[in-house]
Amino acid sequence: MIVEERMASFIRSLDPGMPEYLETIRTNAIKTNVPIIRRETGSLIRFLCASKDPKVILEVGCAVGFSALWMSECAPHAKITTIEKVEKRIAEAKKNFHEAGKADVINLLKGDALEILPTLDLQADLAFVDAAKGQYLNFLPEVMRLLAPGGILISDNVLQDGDVTESRYAVTRRDRTIHQRMRDYLFELQHRDDLATTVLTVGDGVALSVKLP
Ligand SMILES: C[S@@+](CC[C@H](N)C(=O)[O-])C[C@H]1O[C@@H](n2cnc3c(N)ncnc32)[C@H](O)[C@@H]1O
Repeated sequence: MIVEERMASFIRSLDPGMPEYLETIRTNAIKTNVPIIRRETGSLIRFLCASKDPKVILEVGCAVGFSALWMSECAPHAKITTIEKVEKRIAEAKKNFHEAGKADVINLLKGDALEILPTLDLQADLAFVDAAKGQYLNFLPEVMRLLAPGGILISDNVLQDGDVTESRYAVTRRDRTIHQRMRDYLFELQHRDDLATTVLTVGDGVALSVKLP
């Protein structure tokens, strides 16, 4: 928790909820330890989709398709391209897209995003990066190429339950590389001339960036 639990619960209690089928996917994901966006992150995505009305969305890290489906609900005019590398999750995401009647608007690409991103030819109004935290910096050049001027980049889990604010000696040796990489990523987002970025303590930390012309 990066904000006080009481505050987070109160804000969550105001959440109007999602369509029933998404609540079912959420429940199953939690049961099977599939990480998906938190409610408050979903709420932020809804706000951004409503204000931007994106036509093209790029997602890195699909898992079982929960956030892709949510974005599709929130951005009814959007075609979504999403990437996932774990076979079992790909199969479940495909099933979820099909059952929700969204298979024609969500294109799921299988494989490692580092290999797939360079093959894409699109200009995204919205890009959602929610994959391996240690790779965000490696995804960035291709995500920037694929982001339209004025497009919004949403990077999830950037505060890593608060660990990112700790000294590198306070995090376990195993987590030090990822800790440093996330710090480097946030520094890069804030210091690029072609991005304007703000970091929010929403969910597990969300960086919002706009691509400047
Ligand atoms: C946090 S989950 C995504 C959750 C999803 N966005 C949602 O909220 O419903 C991250 C996913 O990214 C996938 N992933 C991690 N690194 C990847 C990579 N380099 N290429 C493709 N998928 C990757 C993982 O297998 C995992 O399913």
